[in-house]
Amino acid sequence: MSNNYLLDFPVLNQTINGKRLVYLDSAATAQKPLSVTKIVQEYYNLYNANPHRGAYYLSVKSTELYDTAREAVKDFIGAGSTREIIFTKNATEAFNLLAYSYGLNFINAGDEIVISIAEHHSNLVPWQMVAKAKGAVLKYMYTNEEGIIPEEEIQSKIGEKTKLVSVTHVSNVLGTINPVESIIKRAHEVDAAVIVDGSQSIPHMKVNVKELDADFMVFSGHKMLAPMGIGVLYGKEKYLNAMPPFLYGGDMIEYVWEQEAEFAELPFKFEGGTQNVGGALGLKEAIKYLDKVGMDNIKVTEKGLTSYALMKLDQLPYVTIYGTRDINKKAGVISFNIKDVHPHDVASILDADGISIRAGHHCAHPLMKYLGVNATCRASFYFYNTVEDIDIFIESIKGVRKWLGYGS
Ligand code: ALA
Repeated sequence: MSNNYLLDFPVLNQTINGKRLVYLDSAATAQKPLSVTKIVQEYYNLYNANPHRGAYYLSVKSTELYDTAREAVKDFIGAGSTREIIFTKNATEAFNLLAYSYGLNFINAGDEIVISIAEHHSNLVPWQMVAKAKGAVLKYMYTNEEGIIPEEEIQSKIGEKTKLVSVTHVSNVLGTINPVESIIKRAHEVDAAVIVDGSQSIPHMKVNVKELDADFMVFSGHKMLAPMGIGVLYGKEKYLNAMPPFLYGGDMIEYVWEQEAEFAELPFKFEGGTQNVGGALGLKEAIKYLDKVGMDNIKVTEKGLTSYALMKLDQLPYVTIYGTRDINKKAGVISFNIKDVHPHDVASILDADGISIRAGHHCAHPLMKYLGVNATCRASFYFYNTVEDIDIFIESIKGVRKWLGYGS
């Protein structure tokens, strides 16, 4: 079976350990098409100069290019204005921006911050810091046995004391799609602000921040075909205008006196220091590629791959799958364990067959504890994966216990 994307993604078109590479770790980072790496190279070869700082051709060009990248992100997520799009290093930096700028200034003693038990550490540790610094309470919405946050949990945990709700759209461990619409509705009923972690959703499905009515949304470029080192914070202007800067220094000011400074307008107030223009252009090109493939096609392809992999894994009695099997509530991420075998051993044995999966705690210690495991294996898919990739993965899984001498 041919893979139409091999020409665009040279990394997929190679052998590892003498076997064809099967890359099943796109939830950690996606591979990059040639058009993305080419645009980054082109920027540095032809246009490199510090944006916003020079009156000469290259600097003006660099500024213009950077602006076009912001425009592309705005359109891709359906934001109202480029003032609402802040470039960051990644989702983690966006969360820290929110914790330091929003959390430390708008959360007070006794207030409640509500997150879910299925959060990545990047949407958890910053809120522990804010809760400790401000005497606030960090509360968790727990998932049911399917890994889904039930409606009763949303209604009971988000209440009059809640000032902030921060929740992932799609779990990086279980792949479950959280009921963010319901969470946002409930949070707004009690006047709490809502942050949605779009790191595992925006690369894989159409997300419109306005329709969702999220107050903030964060995501990383590298999980959606862009280079590492570029991420996005979307925020409603009313919030971003009220928030103080996070990083202080060059380019985020209007004017500086000896003892005072006036800060720049949005979005520049939050972009101190020289920015990652090459990365932003890579993100713009990645968006162009995703638009060409079509977000709806991407969703359908991944749904097909995920249900096929679930069906095959379910036939293996020694495999435990975590989270829902309901394909309408799940993205292309499957966490599983093989009886008697440590996930790191599974990953190493699969690696010998050329297959890349992630094994470990997936930056989600509290979720691991809640699931009663130390670690899991995780296979995650993107539109460039094929049914043949899944078949190779399943055949390798079938050999793991035999390889370790268990017989079957
Ligand atoms: N957040 C990335 C993952 O879940 C690194 O693998």
